[in-house]
Amino acid sequence: MGDQGVVLLQVTVIWVVLAAMAAPAAAQSKPGCPDRCGNVSIPYPFGTREGCYLNEEFLITCDNSTSPPKAFLTNSNINVTNINFDGELHVLSLMARNCYYPNGTEQPNSTTASFSLSIFSISDTLNKFFAVGCDTYALLQGYQGGDLYTTGCMSICSSEKQVQDGSCSGAGCCQVSFPEGLDDTTLTLSSYFNHTKVHDFNPCSYAFIAEESAFNFSSKNLTNLQDMEKLPRVVDWSIGNETCQVAKTNPSSYACKENSTCSEPSGRSGYLCKCFDGYHGNPYLDGCQDIDECENSSLNKCVEKARCKNIPGNYTCSCRKGYHGDGREDGDGCNPNMLQVIQIALGVSIGLISLLMGSSWLYWGLKKRKFIKLKKKFFEQNGGLMLRQQLSSQEGSNETVKIFSAEELEKATDKYAENKIIGQGGYGTVYKGTLTNGRIVAIKKSKMVDKSQIEQFINEVLVLSQINHRNVVKLLGCCLETEVPLLVYEFITNGTLFDYIHKGKKISTSSWEVRLRIATETAEVLSYLHSAASTPIIHRDVKSTNILLDDNYTAKVSDFGASRLVPLDQTQLSTMVQGTLGYLDPEYLLTSQLTEKSDVYSFGVVLVELLTAKKALSFDKPEEERSLAMYFLSSLKDDRLFQVLDERIVNEENIEQLKETANLAKKCLKLKGDERPTMKEVAMKLERMRMVEMHPWTDPEENEYLLGESSHTVDNGCSIGSTNTAYDSLKGHIMLPVKDGR
Ligand SMILES: *[C@@H]1O[C@H](CO)[C@@H](O)[C@H](O)[C@H]1NC(C)=O
Ligand SMILES: *[C@@H]1O[C@H](CO)[C@@H](O)[C@H](O)[C@H]1NC(C)=O
Repeated sequence: MGDQGVVLLQVTVIWVVLAAMAAPAAAQSKPGCPDRCGNVSIPYPFGTREGCYLNEEFLITCDNSTSPPKAFLTNSNINVTNINFDGELHVLSLMARNCYYPNGTEQPNSTTASFSLSIFSISDTLNKFFAVGCDTYALLQGYQGGDLYTTGCMSICSSEKQVQDGSCSGAGCCQVSFPEGLDDTTLTLSSYFNHTKVHDFNPCSYAFIAEESAFNFSSKNLTNLQDMEKLPRVVDWSIGNETCQVAKTNPSSYACKENSTCSEPSGRSGYLCKCFDGYHGNPYLDGCQDIDECENSSLNKCVEKARCKNIPGNYTCSCRKGYHGDGREDGDGCNPNMLQVIQIALGVSIGLISLLMGSSWLYWGLKKRKFIKLKKKFFEQNGGLMLRQQLSSQEGSNETVKIFSAEELEKATDKYAENKIIGQGGYGTVYKGTLTNGRIVAIKKSKMVDKSQIEQFINEVLVLSQINHRNVVKLLGCCLETEVPLLVYEFITNGTLFDYIHKGKKISTSSWEVRLRIATETAEVLSYLHSAASTPIIHRDVKSTNILLDDNYTAKVSDFGASRLVPLDQTQLSTMVQGTLGYLDPEYLLTSQLTEKSDVYSFGVVLVELLTAKKALSFDKPEEERSLAMYFLSSLKDDRLFQVLDERIVNEENIEQLKETANLAKKCLKLKGDERPTMKEVAMKLERMRMVEMHPWTDPEENEYLLGESSHTVDNGCSIGSTNTAYDSLKGHIMLPVKDGR
């Protein structure tokens, strides 16, 4: 903290010093010429003798009879105290003074002040004409061009009380500005009563031209304004009387050398030379040289971790290896690259690990105990406690979920051998495994240990433990002792519905029947999840890859990682949007409001997949065909249904049924969730269609009703107009024999 303060202070001091150094010219005179006179440095074009100055106007006469020696402009009595490259010459002011005896006679030491410059002029912006006295009027006369110019001011006061310190406005002190380019000035003083009335406190009048900021009037000055050499005055200097443009046409006399620019000061003729930014030196002598900003850290703004590189007129900062950023104090500095951090972290951890391993040789027993502890830790970290608690608190769950040990599953999968992988996705990897009792299982291994995913895992276990349905993949148990949690399911032999549709496995002519059955079973599961299960469940990720098929092509819905248990008193849930593109409910995507109708939409897409054998999202297709749902809807609208249907399933008998199914899918794909049918209605509709197919002799009234239903659209989804009880009784009648028949 203290060190930082010191550094800061140092930097500030250096900057201040530099700023101060920038104004006065560096003392650079011609070789062999003195570069200073006393305390005054004398840069070229000024010089103290012939051959040292540009021309006689720049002669500085050095009087070394005094100590320190004094510098005078040319051969005049104008005492120069400072010369800078901004075109300013600081000289000491000459003062006019008139003093009186008490009886009013003038003292002999009175002076007027004449000031004559050859080509330079008194700065009208920095100087003012002042007069001090209580019975005083003062005149400033000079020549502007060839014309005589006069101005002046008057200062009257009758007692010292009228005089105010710091105020120069007519009582004891007056001041006045004068125009630019004034030369050959003479200051004269007069008095009305020869100071007879004010003599006891003000015997003299004074007049002078001085730098405005240098003179601060005080009532004491009415008696003590003696020191003539104290007040500075600014004289403007410039080269010649030509403009830059004209001067440049004559290179032999043009004063500005390399790396400098020419500028014209305002209010006077002639020009000045100035080094380019980032250069220093004497622009009138050898030209300007590049400043090496990198030499001194106070000249550049590169941070400590950056390398400074000098370039003409400037510099660059670049971060050292392993860091990135612009490297500047006033920018984003240098920040360590992530890779570097990781490398360091890796190095450190590798070091630590080897240390650990070394010591573990000695403390093998201890390590073993540690390992057991670690397993316990993972178990806890993976929510084992939470799960155990949740499972034990669950009532009425018929299936008990077994908790497997890590060794058991490692053995079952040949230590997670690659040839045991049967599926891979964003969630993780699925392995085929054989338990010691010979049972074949699918083991799902999560990808990362991330808190949200662990929650999803626990979620899936909880959801599945609540479901007991023949069309839902059965969860046998889980293992939480490994770093990533593992889920164990019954093994489903025939792959996914996606593979069945798109990879053309075992497609037969009767495949529409199979597809319709799969659709019905899936719809039933979803309907069950939405309404029949003890707590409603929204699957959230209905898609053909999540529908598995067993030997008999019976649908088994899987992957409940994203599913949500919806408390009975809530019909809507606000959640982070989750799901699979192509199947995702657009309304849910927009509002984040999760309802059962989101599953209806996704199911609609699956239905279309079954009808068309096209993928839900195909990026290799033209834009209008990319989203299957959109493409299907527009085809229906243009009455092109039969162009998009999978030709392998179309035959004369099922045309009506396909139309109906397409119509049902259309309703499921309604943009507004409210307009979509419920899963129950969808399941009923599909079941009825199957019934007609399998039992063509079924009640003609029912049949007529179904056909009528398909020919006129009912806005309110696939409403069949029947109540749940009607459906349930129907289910009881028809479904059971169908199941037995398979
Ligand atoms: C004073 O200046 C003269 C010529 O300019 C020089 O010869 C002399 O040595 C100087 N004296 C001192 C003390 O610098
Ligand atoms: C004016 O008076 C003040 C106060 O005594 C003094 O400091 C200052 O030097 C005087 N000014 C001049 C130019 O003598």
